[in-house]
Amino acid sequence: MPIDPNFPQNHKVKEKFKDPSSESYYLVWGPGRLAEAASDPKVMADYKATGEEIKPMGIHGTYVAVDWDSCIADGICLLSCPVKVFEWYKNPGETGRNDRKDFTDKANPVQEANCIWCMACVEVCPTKAIKVDQANQEIHEKEIANIP
Ligand code: F3S
Ligand code: F3S
Repeated sequence: MPIDPNFPQNHKVKEKFKDPSSESYYLVWGPGRLAEAASDPKVMADYKATGEEIKPMGIHGTYVAVDWDSCIADGICLLSCPVKVFEWYKNPGETGRNDRKDFTDKANPVQEANCIWCMACVEVCPTKAIKVDQANQEIHEKEIANIP
């Protein structure tokens, strides 16, 4: 189940984060649903090992958006991005393919503003968890403008 291409219309913003290193905001869209990550053997094994429950996580980012329910922590997106848009959620600052904490980790598009629209990440992700769309930048800016 790839990322919903119309997620800004079909989801709501549930969280807004400010990345301490870039000072830029990124949005989380929900509610999410159980998808590839809930049935991938490596992801399931690592959730079992950490004692965490697999729950819907939603979509992180807006114009570089990663569906965390589809992300199986493959890591090829981190390796492929020429401008290091992504870092590991559970291993912040780490941008290497194999720098994940384990397979419960997720690709976090914290440097969304650096995207040069090459689409490499979209093409290589095995679960089609990523949508990159310059048109969604306007949606992002509107949401950020509402932050007090
Ligand atoms: Fe996840 Fe796809 Fe990247 S599975 S780590 S979004 S390549
Ligand atoms: Fe990087 Fe993907 Fe943009 S590979 S440059 S985040 S389109």
